[in-house]
Amino acid sequence: MFPVRIRVALGVITALVIALLSSTAALADGPWPNDPQGPQAKAIADLYWIMFAAAVLVLAIVDGALIYAGIKFRERPGHVAKQFHGQNFLELTWTVIPTLMVVSFSVLSWQKLDFINNTRGGDVGMVVQAQGQQWQWTFSYPHEDRFKLLDGSYLQTSEELHITVGTKVRVELSAKDVIHSFWIPSIGGKKDAVPGRATELWIQADKPGTYKGQCLEFCGDGHADMLITLVAHPVSDYGAWAVQAVKDANRLIDPLTKVGRDTFLSLACVGCHTVKGTTAGGKIGPDLTHIASQKGIAGGALAPVNEENLTRWIHNPPAVKPTTTMPNYNLSDQQVHDIVQWLLTLK
Ligand code: CUA
Repeated sequence: MFPVRIRVALGVITALVIALLSSTAALADGPWPNDPQGPQAKAIADLYWIMFAAAVLVLAIVDGALIYAGIKFRERPGHVAKQFHGQNFLELTWTVIPTLMVVSFSVLSWQKLDFINNTRGGDVGMVVQAQGQQWQWTFSYPHEDRFKLLDGSYLQTSEELHITVGTKVRVELSAKDVIHSFWIPSIGGKKDAVPGRATELWIQADKPGTYKGQCLEFCGDGHADMLITLVAHPVSDYGAWAVQAVKDANRLIDPLTKVGRDTFLSLACVGCHTVKGTTAGGKIGPDLTHIASQKGIAGGALAPVNEENLTRWIHNPPAVKPTTTMPNYNLSDQQVHDIVQWLLTLK
C-alpha cells in the first residue's frame, strides 16, 4: 500500500482530472473558440495552437530537466548535492531561447491583428449595426430597399443576426447603457460595445448554419442571458429570409393591426381567450396565440384559417356552429374587419 501522503495526492489528482473532463463535456455543446467556422476565428485558433504547442514543449523540457536534476544530483547519504554556479552556456540558453520565443509570438500576433482588425477593407460585403442594451442585442440591417419597412424605417432584429455565408460583414457596435461585449466564439471576435464610443469588428461564416454567441462583459442581472444567434444563410436563401422578415416586421407596425388588437382587448373577447404577450388571459375559449398557424377554427368547423372564414365566424358564431358557446356580439363590420386583420398576424 502507498504511504498516506501519496494516496492523498493521487486522490486530489483523480478529482481534478474528473472535474476537468466533466467541464470539457459540458463545453462540448456550447460555443467553443477552438472550433473555428470562419477565417477570423481560424486565424485566432491557429495562433492559439502554435502557442499552446510551444507551451507544452517548454513545460516538458523544463519539468523534465527539473525532475532529472532533482533525482540525479540530489543530496543523499554520502553524497553532497551538486552545485551549478557559473554555467555560462546554460544561463545563455535559458535567456536567449525564451527571448526568441516571445519575440516570435509578438510578430505572429501582430500579423494576425492586422488581419483581424481589418474592418475597412474593400472585401467587406455587408455592414450591420449591433446595439447592446440591458439585456439584448439589436441588429440593424443596411438601408437597402429589400430591408425597408412600411413606415420608411429599415429592418431590425433582436438577438438573431442574419448574414450570408462567405460574406465578410462589418459589425458596428454601440451600447445604450453600460459596456457590453460582442462575441461569437466559433466565428471570431470579441469586441466591446462602449457607450459614447464607436467600435467595430468583422465576422464571416464559412458554412450555412446557426452560431451561438454571448455578451462577454458583465453588464448586470441579465448578462448571462444576453445571447447572440448568428444565422448564416446560403446566398440563394437570404432573399427569401429578408422578404419574410420584412413582412413580419411590417405586420407589427401596420396601423390596421394595432386598431384590431386594441378593439379585441377592449371587448368581451379577453374574458374567454388567451393571447400570449397581451392582457388577454381568458381560459374558457381556445388560446388564440397562434391562431393564424392553425389548420381550422371553431374546433375544425371552419377551415382554413383565412380572412373570409374568420370574418364569417366572428360575425355570428352560432350561425356557423350551433353548439358553440361563443355568442353573437353583434360587432360592426369595421370591428370584425379590424380584429380579423390582427388575428391573421398571430402565427
Ligand atoms: Cu451585455 Cu453582458
